[in-house]
Amino acid sequence: MNRIDFTHNTQAAEVIAAHYDSPPLAFVHSYGCQQNVNDGEKIKGVLVDAGYGLCDKFEDADLILFNTCAVREHAEERVFGNVGALKQLKAKNPRLIIGICGCMTQQEGVVERLRKSYPFVDLVFGVNGIDTLPQLLAEKMGAGKRLLKTPTQRYDVVEQIPIQRDSTFRAWLPIMYGCDNFCSYCIVPYVRGRERSRKSQDILAEFRQLIEQGYKEITLLGQNVNSYGKGLEETIDFADLLEQLCQQPGDYHIRFMTSHPKDATKKLIDTMAKYPQLCNHLHLPVQSGSNRILKEMNRHYTVEQYMELINYAKEKIPGITFSSDIIVGFPGETEEEFEQTLDLISKVEYMQLFTFIYSKRTGTRAAEMPDPFTHKDKTNRMARLLKTQEEIASRLAKGMIGKQCRVLVEGHSRQPGTLAGRLDNNLVVEFAGDAALIGSYTTVNIEDARVTMLKGSLQA
Ligand code: SAH
Ligand code: SF4
Ligand code: F3S
Repeated sequence: MNRIDFTHNTQAAEVIAAHYDSPPLAFVHSYGCQQNVNDGEKIKGVLVDAGYGLCDKFEDADLILFNTCAVREHAEERVFGNVGALKQLKAKNPRLIIGICGCMTQQEGVVERLRKSYPFVDLVFGVNGIDTLPQLLAEKMGAGKRLLKTPTQRYDVVEQIPIQRDSTFRAWLPIMYGCDNFCSYCIVPYVRGRERSRKSQDILAEFRQLIEQGYKEITLLGQNVNSYGKGLEETIDFADLLEQLCQQPGDYHIRFMTSHPKDATKKLIDTMAKYPQLCNHLHLPVQSGSNRILKEMNRHYTVEQYMELINYAKEKIPGITFSSDIIVGFPGETEEEFEQTLDLISKVEYMQLFTFIYSKRTGTRAAEMPDPFTHKDKTNRMARLLKTQEEIASRLAKGMIGKQCRVLVEGHSRQPGTLAGRLDNNLVVEFAGDAALIGSYTTVNIEDARVTMLKGSLQA
């Protein structure tokens, strides 16, 4: 791992300034996971550092950047649709620069498709090029022709990248990049490259800065946070890192994702139990309740091992809630195997599930596996899964009625005059309150529950 610091590129900023008559505006939109959203915040930071202003409407922009996701086919097609719609804008404003970056562009086929069928796309660059964006823009402006980078991998960890965060009280804090797990269905290791951990002192420095800036909720990010520390010179694991962070004084709480069950340890659960700053919520994606399917998925744990950890957490952390990702219709998943997933869900009693119908990703191992079940079979299974989950979540949420809970007020809720606050256990409560409370902690009495949305009132 090679660690480098971001440096401001004066020359590139001058080329960019000279290209426009007035200070230019950029519109950046991120798709996909929190890692990508955090990358989008850095892209905005780098653009501001290079002299751009930011705008919320792409119609106002001199530079449009789509920061894309490749995890499922649907995600990719949505991007192609949205990119296609920009053609008209380019016809009106030939100086407009349209760029595509992020996970999709790490695939050769995607760059080819953009090259051939989307001639109005000027700039394409991969997930590891954020710090070089001003140079790329200057190069594109100088050359006056398209600049479509073919995918490359780069293993530098770049620190001190300027950032424009979307929120003033909730922050993403990546602790590692990439993924080495190669789950057989997943494109992420191919597009994000090998796993690299940040040095703990860099993470700590950013963490302290966030607390000083008044951030209340800090979510640590990594595709598998439990393998944090591998490859570093220092000897440290994820639980040790949490310990270090929790030593920092201040009024904040910490979440993290994603915990891969194969590397989640009892030590991690013990650390969660020890520190009140660590939320009583664990996102532990199981993907399937069948040992055969888990093996085919290359997940490296069994249902029994998974349940042991869940039961340990239930015992050590009263009131803990769990969430998970589930894939329905993995190639060859039988009715019986699907029912094992339903069974597991009922045993764990998840508060939330993120459910996906299997999507074939070219280049992954599962893409070569026979897939005899129809899409209709899979959507039927999905409907059954959602029904089972709704019953579980409703029951759990009802159990919250009568409790007094500290919440972080996140914003306005659906009903006019109401706010939404997030509990430690990741549930959301709607209550009447003044908008001035947004971004601070308050206490709410929980009075009602509809599926996973709680209703309550401010404690007098
Ligand atoms: N690193 C995280 C998740 C990354 S992707 C983890 O291991 O849990 C987020 C979720 O997308 C995955 O957990 C999985 O449920 C889903 N997913 C990934 N590839 C998929 C595919 N090809 N089809 C359907 N769902 C997929
Ligand atoms: Fe994909 Fe598996 Fe890595 Fe998660 S751990 S990103 S599912 S390969
Ligand atoms: Fe998507 Fe890339 Fe995240 S593929 S889920 S944006 S790591």
